[in-house]
Amino acid sequence: MTPVDQPRNLRLTQSPIAKPFLDVLAGRRQAVPPLWMMRQAGRYLPEYREVRAQAGGFLDLCFNPDFAAEVTLQPIRRFNFDAAIIFSDILVIPYALGRSVRFEVGEGPRLDPLDTPEKVATLAAQADFTKLEPVFEALRRVRAQLDPKIALIGFCGAPWTVATYMVAGQGTPDQAPARMMAYRHPEAFAKIIDAIVENSIVYLLGQLKAGADVLQIFDTWAGVLPPREFQRWSVEPTKRIVDGVRAKVPDAKIIGFPRGAGALLPAYVEATGVDAVSIDWAAEPAFIRERVQSRVAVQGNLDPLALIAGGAALDRAIDDVLANYASGRLIFNLGHGIQPETPIAHVEQMVKRVRDYRG
Ligand code: CP3
Repeated sequence: MTPVDQPRNLRLTQSPIAKPFLDVLAGRRQAVPPLWMMRQAGRYLPEYREVRAQAGGFLDLCFNPDFAAEVTLQPIRRFNFDAAIIFSDILVIPYALGRSVRFEVGEGPRLDPLDTPEKVATLAAQADFTKLEPVFEALRRVRAQLDPKIALIGFCGAPWTVATYMVAGQGTPDQAPARMMAYRHPEAFAKIIDAIVENSIVYLLGQLKAGADVLQIFDTWAGVLPPREFQRWSVEPTKRIVDGVRAKVPDAKIIGFPRGAGALLPAYVEATGVDAVSIDWAAEPAFIRERVQSRVAVQGNLDPLALIAGGAALDRAIDDVLANYASGRLIFNLGHGIQPETPIAHVEQMVKRVRDYRG
């Protein structure tokens, strides 16, 4: 069966073995918070760099199930994290929509810019999901090898963030090209968003079916939007994805990451219906506890630069996260992805300190 013909009301198989990570999402705080790191499979690991070199291009790594499963499991073997995240990228959706997507070494992603209404008119409405079959196969392989106590995370980019790369053709400091297009040509921009929404729903359902226990929606660029635009381009499309997934899998667990949403976070949680939110390191603790953690689990929010710095500064930053949030439902994580120059010994220091915590 292709992921497009999903059975109605597919139920997640309930594994008999408890996963601390899923317990937190189900509302049960853990004395030792479960932990993983955004971008935990990546260039700070020598074993990742080795597989990456064998694979050739970055997308060749994403679309080779053997390699993708292997790099997904590498950080689990090293650090015994509570969750594995499938190795892929948010830009596989534009790729499956037929856009040209390339990853230039040291430069990040490059796409053919979709920056006029005329170009948008040519955009496919339906992705070619056969292109994403290797991601589903990698999920099945990881699930088969993963300790049942460890959760497996599937993911996609939020429509706004994916659209920012599709419009500009690359990352930019403040994603001005997509913001301009949304003001000047809202209908054309909405067409891009709609295509991402509809295909992300199918993609996420395919990931659940292939063995993902939980889904994360990455909205890395949410923080560049004014409140009205945030509501229209971040909150509403994310809500449509959450509703679309839950229409088929009512108990699907979903984590949102509207990076930089700040004071708009409670409204995001309320409107989207996510089970948890990832918070960045700038979040204000009392506000998050009272307005966000009182409703859903929070995930975060160590500054990745503290992890590079190490030593006493790292210990202090870890203790702050625990003091701020571990009395409620917390999944310990970074406030954004781990950076390539991070020493492995510092990750070990973090894992030990979090696991030694008894709150
Ligand atoms: O978290 C994981 O370990 C799973 C894998 C994962 C990758 N990208 C692998 C990757 C995940 C969850 C992502 C998400 C992603 N991709 C986001 C949202 C989260 C975030 O970090 O903000 C975004 C914006 C992208 C798009 C993207 N992919 C960019 C901007 C870049 C270049 C920047 C960089 O870090 O190099 C990528 C490439 C990429 N995606 C790499 C990895 C490991 C590095 C490429 C390489 O190994 O050559």
